[in-house]
Amino acid sequence: MTAEQFARLAQIVHQESGIALADTKKGLLMARTNRRLRSLKMSDYSAYCDYLEHPDGVGERRNLLVAVTTNVTAFFREAHHFELLAKRILPDLVAKARSGARVRLWSAACSSGEEAYSMAMTVLEAFPEAARHDLLILATDIDPEIIARARAGKYDERTLKGVEPARRDRHFTRSDGGYAVRPEVQKLVRFAELNLHKDWPFSGRFDVILCRNVVIYFDIPMRQQLWRKFVNILNPNGYLMVGHSERIDGPATDRFRSIGTTAYQLVQ
Ligand SMILES: C[S@@+](CC[C@H](N)C(=O)[O-])C[C@H]1O[C@@H](n2cnc3c(N)ncnc32)[C@H](O)[C@@H]1O
Repeated sequence: MTAEQFARLAQIVHQESGIALADTKKGLLMARTNRRLRSLKMSDYSAYCDYLEHPDGVGERRNLLVAVTTNVTAFFREAHHFELLAKRILPDLVAKARSGARVRLWSAACSSGEEAYSMAMTVLEAFPEAARHDLLILATDIDPEIIARARAGKYDERTLKGVEPARRDRHFTRSDGGYAVRPEVQKLVRFAELNLHKDWPFSGRFDVILCRNVVIYFDIPMRQQLWRKFVNILNPNGYLMVGHSERIDGPATDRFRSIGTTAYQLVQ
């Protein structure tokens, strides 16, 4: 892969997803796209770039994003967010749902679903009858393959290692040598493919958004634009939680107050 071919591919990735690939990622990009070239029977990266830039290459652009995205995640990752949800945020949201109002949580960039299901389990522990109310967790990711895996709700032994046995037994059943998320947990979650940098099709606002460990891959303008979009889609006093190495910055900063480690509340 020449420097020019890398720059073309990096530009397509950035335009499509906001992901900024530094020059040091050339080896990684080659390793991850080699298979795409082989399956398309293309001999070099210039032909691949031409195809990606052609209108017929729309589908392949999605394959490229699948190849470059990093899907690392875990159940109850950054556990303090789930404690905050349980202790500080859910009491009001449960009351809101019980009063008949709509409650929406969003796992934005949900990867294989562990984050969204952890939210659903936390909700069910505080509010076992949640499914009888208008409470839903939306879980989205740019990667259609990872969304399909998330929707299946099946995980191996190793993935469940960090989940306390009592919690595991409450929310999972044994399935094919691994574990399956119980239907009552799945019922609270709706998975969909969504690119954070494209238009969002939502009709209502969110009470809580977890957008964790994804903006680290974006450049500064894309990241700050996303914070502004969250301001517009959160309910008044809504909550936003970001990844351990991420912070809200830029013009949206004044609209949030910190309520804990990498956790924010929208201010008017
Ligand atoms: C490292 S995972 C984080 C998963 C989870 N939020 C967590 O913290 O454990 C990052 C996810 O962001 C997704 N992603 C990357 N760019 C995206 C974009 N522009 N829109 C939506 N999702 C994106 C990737 O497909 C990947 O699944």
